[in-house]
Amino acid sequence: MKILREHISLLPYNTFGIAANARWFGSFSDTDELEELLASASGSPSFILGGGSNILLTKDIDGLVLKNEIRGVYELHEDQDHVYVKAGAGENWHEFVQYCLKRNWAGIENLSLIPGNVGASPMQNIGAYGVEVAEVFWSLEAFHLQEKKVVTFVLSDCQFGYRESVFKNKYKGQFVILNVTYRLRKKPVFHTSYGAIQQELERMGVKELSIQAISQAVINIRSSKLPDPKVTGNAGSFFKNPEIRPLQYELLKEKFPDIVAYSLVNGNYKLAAGWLIEQCGWKGYREGDAGVHPKQALVLVNYGNASGKNIYELSEKVLLSVKEKFGVELEREVNII
Ligand code: FAD
Ligand code: EPU
Repeated sequence: MKILREHISLLPYNTFGIAANARWFGSFSDTDELEELLASASGSPSFILGGGSNILLTKDIDGLVLKNEIRGVYELHEDQDHVYVKAGAGENWHEFVQYCLKRNWAGIENLSLIPGNVGASPMQNIGAYGVEVAEVFWSLEAFHLQEKKVVTFVLSDCQFGYRESVFKNKYKGQFVILNVTYRLRKKPVFHTSYGAIQQELERMGVKELSIQAISQAVINIRSSKLPDPKVTGNAGSFFKNPEIRPLQYELLKEKFPDIVAYSLVNGNYKLAAGWLIEQCGWKGYREGDAGVHPKQALVLVNYGNASGKNIYELSEKVLLSVKEKFGVELEREVNII
């Protein structure tokens, strides 16, 4: 019988290392346990917790927090080119990537070392080094909290965008993702053009390209600039890279010739928010225990005892200064709770 626990510290459950408490807390490892917990609670959960690597807790939670611990990885079936793999939402993402690499299943090697769990991967449409999870997503099963039934979502239902999905928008707070099925390739299609991958592969002395080598290159690059949450609290990029129209880009480029931008297929431009923040003088800034990472200005950090409010207030200052200098409004990528 699953029971809810009262007054639980969420400090071990969020990578920002924020000390906040949940009035009620429970974990579940299958749908029956989830239903048991919901039956003993007085209302809907305040939020569902995965690995806690993309949340900023700005207050104590006066409601229910449910931690998804559904495990299991299953090879469902295969066709000529693909293998269909289902993973429980509570599986650690990077361990899942490694499991697939061992079997030579390709498609998620560029997403190596992203913290968090499988369940959040479609929620956030996680992305890195030129690949997004949407590209390998096949389907997911989610529990509808109001109707108390399991619903299947396929690619066209999810409205994936840059760090966006239907679960962050229209269906926010309505579903608990139970498991995700990915369609992985038996023959890899390599993505090495993004960022420093090619350079890193050369430095590693890789002669024959493989998904394992790409994964290692990504791990090396990430480890060199992103703070390890075990050492310094953070939730990865705090803001999204903003998308702007061509006219605004031309005007900015004239005024700031070094501006870092990528052209998009729709004609717009994506700006490197890290560059914008660095230009405003924030890189390495620290006030109390809240700070801007010295190696990656897009990452806000907790050096120890910062509160969620401290981090949020710093993010507000960063946001306002970027708006003032560049006329560009940053959007927070981290889920503010
Ligand atoms: P949580 O933080 O627990 O939850 C995130 C959101 O999803 C919350 O709103 C939560 O309620 C909801 N949620 C979680 N699980 C479920 C579920 N089963 N059902 C319903 N809702 C759910 N992200 C990238 O995309 N690319 C990166 O390169 C990247 N790098 C990072 C580097 C570092 C050092 C860190 C700390 C974070 C990074 N992130 C990155 C962000 C983060 O790892 C991802 O967003 C990850 O998918 C979050 O997973 P999680 O399980 O920790 O989610
Ligand atoms: N830059 C600076 N100063 C900085 C940081 C970045 O000038 O302090 C400029 C540099 O020119 C650099 C460019 O910005 O070349 C891009 O930086 P980086 O390669 O580190 O990537 P990013 O755009 O800052 C995005 C994702 C990351 C993802 C990487 C790699 C977002 C919001 N962030 O960061 O995702 O790992 O690309 O693909 O899209 C996350 O979502 O939490 C996350 C870490």
